[in-house]
Amino acid sequence: MSGKITFTMIKPDAVADGHIGAILGKIAESGFKIKAMKLTQLTVADAKKFYEVHAERPFYGELVDFMSSGPIVAAVLEKDNAVENFRTLIGATNPADAAEGTIRKMFARSVGENAVHGSDSDENALIEASFHFSGREIF
Ligand code: CMP
Repeated sequence: MSGKITFTMIKPDAVADGHIGAILGKIAESGFKIKAMKLTQLTVADAKKFYEVHAERPFYGELVDFMSSGPIVAAVLEKDNAVENFRTLIGATNPADAAEGTIRKMFARSVGENAVHGSDSDENALIEASFHFSGREIF
């Protein structure tokens, strides 16, 4: 059975553009329950570690610089089949390819500055949640 937990970040572009409230509204309307949440900022070292799976990609440096450039909202979300349902809600990585009504279509600037992160597997959701939150911060 698919897991009930996913991890998300509202990225620096969407925070700077004033979209925190609208994005959280869409998440809530879509039936996700917030298990943990905070406004925080990644250090360069944090961003390198979080995205180390992409270390060989040409955009890695740009990704690390961007993700550490300003505040983010980190959150753990709960819903049945959370990873897949959340990826449907946020849309394709590149907002130009994202379906109408998805968070990236509505709020992202570009493929690099794409408004939100969503875990790509149940295993990574747990790893990413524990990267950002201690056990007593998850409810
Ligand atoms: P996300 O899926 O959250 O995690 C990996 C991130 O790498 C992705 O979002 C994008 O922000 C970024 N990314 C993916 N492809 C590109 C690209 N071609 N150029 C710049 N950034 C990218």
